Amino acid sequence: MIRFLLDGKIQEIDDVRPTESLLSYLRYNLQKTGTKEGCAEGDCGACTVIIGELSDDDQISYKAVNACIVFLPTLHGRELVTVESLKGEDGRLHPVQQSLVDHHGSQCGFCTPGIVMALYALYLSDKSPDLPQINDVLAGNLCRCTGYGPIITAAHKMYDYPETTTALSMSEKVALLKSLEEPHDQKNYFAPTSKDDLAQVILDHSDAVIVAGGTDVGLWVTKQHRELSKVIYLGNVMDMKQISERYGNLHIGAGVTYTHAMKLITRHYPDFGEVIRRIGATQVRNQATIGGNIANGSPIGDGPPCLIALGAKLVLRRGQVSRTIGLEDYFIAYGEQDLKAGEFIEEIILPLPTAQQHFKAYKISKRFDQDISALCMGMSFHLENGRITNVRMAYGGMAATPKRALACEASLEGGPWNKAQVEKAMQALEIDFTPLSDMRASEGYRMQVAKNLILKAYLETTEDPPQMRVLGQEGRAIG
Ligand SMILES: Cc1cc2nc3c(=O)[nH]c(=O)nc-3n(C[C@H](O)[C@H](O)[C@H](O)COP(=O)(O)OP(=O)(O)OC[C@H]3O[C@@H](n4cnc5c(N)ncnc54)[C@H](O)[C@@H]3O)c2cc1C
Ligand code: FES
Ligand code: FES
Repeated sequence: MIRFLLDGKIQEIDDVRPTESLLSYLRYNLQKTGTKEGCAEGDCGACTVIIGELSDDDQISYKAVNACIVFLPTLHGRELVTVESLKGEDGRLHPVQQSLVDHHGSQCGFCTPGIVMALYALYLSDKSPDLPQINDVLAGNLCRCTGYGPIITAAHKMYDYPETTTALSMSEKVALLKSLEEPHDQKNYFAPTSKDDLAQVILDHSDAVIVAGGTDVGLWVTKQHRELSKVIYLGNVMDMKQISERYGNLHIGAGVTYTHAMKLITRHYPDFGEVIRRIGATQVRNQATIGGNIANGSPIGDGPPCLIALGAKLVLRRGQVSRTIGLEDYFIAYGEQDLKAGEFIEEIILPLPTAQQHFKAYKISKRFDQDISALCMGMSFHLENGRITNVRMAYGGMAATPKRALACEASLEGGPWNKAQVEKAMQALEIDFTPLSDMRASEGYRMQVAKNLILKAYLETTEDPPQMRVLGQEGRAIG
């Protein structure tokens, strides 16, 4: 029995397929067709809804997600808010909706419900967002006919309207959600609530698929039409969704989402934070976990190159036994990782920066937001008296796995941090990598850009970096 809160009432659903999508349930079972289906792969934002989750301090935290890649059973114990939920009890449109109407933020309207929900999540979390925040929130919502100008104006103005009345007060919702807290059992869907329980469930059901944020696994179902008969969901394992700072390291639970980790990681490693800000879009980062980004073994995941360059370690656990390995050793070959049957990623250990350390990271993709990397690079090093030491560099998109550039590192280590040395390192990269051509980039492009990123890191860390100029559409310098 799955139970969740929707529009002031508890929904109860029996006999749910573990991979039934929230979107199809909304549209086909509840006939709530306001939520649209565009891409069915988390890319367009037309299906954006909000999920509310009880926090430790008896508050409900809300986040926008893409309903097309949310598995319905994962809603258990949570609140769901759809575009139909927003209309006030008095029949008035919600301020977000009224502002979009008044400022002409919709033409064909297909993308509009998703945009309403993305802005509603912003409305709940921030009362005076600036333009970059609004742009970030809308990066996962494609609109092809209105143009974003009026939508952004509507976002700025939505705070000027009076609040609408809702069916339940916040404390009534909290009380209802608390009444749903008890875990539920099914033959084919497991949602353990602690790491110990998870370890046992994985041992007992080694044929089940682990689902964390589901931003990869969801697409196996919607795009590859795979039947997953048994699922273990990690989203309720609270002791794996925490970050703590201990003895010079950040200990990041594998179930921590990129949204959760972004602020803290940005504080320590601003370049890594910027790479995270460009992972998918808000709806994806709200679901996507750091553990999932590693476990999937993708050669083009954006987290691993940064984490490897920073010397991160993985804690892997099977039953009661844990082992710790360097993250780079986890990736053995394409599609092959150092993860045994019954084992899972429990934690990522990320060293905190030292005083002499520099960290540079760059993601290269065709679109700025919501795009998979052609390549991604992380580079950590110390600079002292003009010499570069402790060099660690890793690339994604340059090999069958995320991989360190060992020859390149060796060519730099201990030498002067000058242009001649950088040029040698750029040549050494040809020893490290033989990249592939694919739809994202050609072999030649990848190699050239990978080399240029070392030069970029050099230019950005020398005392007098050349003035970077941004060219506008007609080639005029605009910044
Ligand atoms: C629209 C869109 C845009 C995206 N953009 C980017 C991007 O810009 N950069 C990028 O790197 N990725 C991107 N992704 C891919 C994906 O979001 C990330 O890889 C994400 O971090 C995966 O995490 P998850 O929690 O959703 O994993 P899931 O889909 O839940 O799981 C992924 C895999 O990891 C396994 N797994 C998960 N957690 C564990 C664990 N703790 N132990 C063992 N196995 C585990 C699962 O069984 C599965 O095989 C995008 C995806 C979408 C849909
Ligand atoms: S339908 Fe496009 S993100 Fe869900
Ligand atoms: S209003 Fe038509 S796609 Fe957005």
